[in-house]
Amino acid sequence: MTISTLKHTIQEELKDVYPVQEIHNFFVLLSEAYLKMSRLDIVMNPDTVVSAAILANFTEAFKRLKVFEPIQYIIGETEFFDLNFKVTPDVLIPRPETEDLVRWIIQDQHKTNLDVLDLCTGSGCIAISLSKYLKDATVSALDISTSALAIAKENAENNNTNIHFLLKDILASDSLPQHYDVIVSNPPYVRNLEKDLMSNNVLEHEPHLALFVEDDNPLIFYNKIISLSKTHLKPNGTLYLEINEFLGEATQALLDSDSFTNIELKKDIFGKDRMLKATLTL
Ligand SMILES: C[S@@+](CC[C@H](N)C(=O)[O-])C[C@H]1O[C@@H](n2cnc3c(N)ncnc32)[C@H](O)[C@@H]1O
Repeated sequence: MTISTLKHTIQEELKDVYPVQEIHNFFVLLSEAYLKMSRLDIVMNPDTVVSAAILANFTEAFKRLKVFEPIQYIIGETEFFDLNFKVTPDVLIPRPETEDLVRWIIQDQHKTNLDVLDLCTGSGCIAISLSKYLKDATVSALDISTSALAIAKENAENNNTNIHFLLKDILASDSLPQHYDVIVSNPPYVRNLEKDLMSNNVLEHEPHLALFVEDDNPLIFYNKIISLSKTHLKPNGTLYLEINEFLGEATQALLDSDSFTNIELKKDIFGKDRMLKATLTL
């Protein structure tokens, strides 16, 4: 089968499930992964013949896409902050909103040799990007999931960064190993009651451990992280949080003005409350 026929086949296979443009994007990503051909290569070489072995990979991908498996899990990787990250169903797929959080930190933090801690690291996307872009920072990253940490460690190596990984339940921790200039976290924050708003590909394929909190205690992680930050940020150290868009004010209210200054709530590109930062008072 030629590339041009394969392109037609994917549209036919998935037309009842996804819009045309999304199917085209899948085709480009699958071609990059399986044929090692760029978007331009595909356009320039429509008559190239695809081998039976590679065709089998595409056919398997079509099956998985039909049951709404995220394309990132199918090809096994994604991009975050211009870096490549391995992803499996053990880790949340890094989101563009989280890139905004990382960008905020990099724009703010100009000192060298910062001590940084990423709580609930998942794929390691925040910790690894900060280690890449903050000069000479010492970065640690914590998660409760052994399998997520295994992926994060691979990602750290693949991106030539040296991160100190900690296997720990943050909710059961009363202390952290040291004091930090920056603590950052994108913890689980979706309430069960918000499941109706979520698409099948997230609900059925991404790890619930990474996503959900109980409806009656949705800020459980923020309470704990803020409490630990009070005792483990260095004076003038800064806490950065990704937050639930519906709980911006409630989350901000946890940052008491006796302990924190320069409290800032920031919206994402869709105008939703998405990030908080606060500096520990001297
Ligand atoms: C929303 S994901 C964030 C992953 C990654 N930081 C990102 O931004 O893509 C939350 C992460 O918290 C971890 N987690 C859940 N409960 C935890 C706990 N009690 N202690 C530490 N980590 C926990 C999950 O394993 C998951 O990797």
